[in-house]
Amino acid sequence: MSDIVLELQNVTRIFGEGDTQVKALDDVSFSIKRGEFVLIVGSSGSGKSTLLNMIGLLDKPTSGKVILDGKQTTTLNDGQVSQYRNEKLGFVFQFANLLPDLTVLENVMLPQQIQRSSEDIRQNATDLLIKVGLEDQINKRSNKISGGQAQRAAIARGLVNRPTIVLADEPTGNLDSVTAGKVVKLAKTMAKELNQTFIIVTHDRDQFPDVDRVITIIDGKAFDGKETIMEITS
Ligand SMILES: Nc1ncnc2c1ncn2[C@@H]1O[C@H](COP(=O)(O)OP(=O)(O)OP(=O)(O)O)[C@@H](O)[C@H]1O
Ligand SMILES: [Mg+2]
Repeated sequence: MSDIVLELQNVTRIFGEGDTQVKALDDVSFSIKRGEFVLIVGSSGSGKSTLLNMIGLLDKPTSGKVILDGKQTTTLNDGQVSQYRNEKLGFVFQFANLLPDLTVLENVMLPQQIQRSSEDIRQNATDLLIKVGLEDQINKRSNKISGGQAQRAAIARGLVNRPTIVLADEPTGNLDSVTAGKVVKLAKTMAKELNQTFIIVTHDRDQFPDVDRVITIIDGKAFDGKETIMEITS
């Protein structure tokens, strides 16, 4: 198993045509290793979501390559892309997006691959819910839990297929700072315990102290490394 789980090679994404053309990503290249906890930061409109959509196989570059767990993905067809996405990626969004009529456990069981036995699926989801500290909320309906609890359940759901990478877009954007701090701490503990790669987009760099990597996006260009960022932003 290679240590590199993700490689972007000269990724450019252009929206629109002619005068209204926007180069949302401009020749972005970097690679990410298994177990790394990576932040993507940058001001509004800099290209963060566009980048996350590339990594999440939700959109394709205008030019360049996205190599996820050893496979070049930009030449795959739509069906192959969705299958590979389900296999390799877990998603956590700004709002937990739990289905309100299902229990917490049922929500976490949802993404799991159908070829597994149902007892396996239930056990795996239960184990993760215990890990994220929700053992006493497992059978509650998900519209009866707090925002922080819902976001912890969303992290459990993002991890349940043991994805190669968990992608999160502003996962703490909807939480007060104390709850956000707890969610961040949890994500980091999970990253360490499971050697799980996380890539997190955030406006709020301060919410995430001590991460492994920071990639700053400025006008569609990526700058890698914590020191570089200090120089650019200070
Ligand atoms: N579908 C689209 N069509 C045209 N332009 C787009 C599209 N999506 C994004 N853009 C443009 O690409 C640039 C980058 O947008 P992106 O959404 O990636 O920014 P962002 O860093 O996520 O911003 P925010 O922090 O506000 O979410 C912006 O100029 C945006 O207007
Ligand atoms: Mg965005």
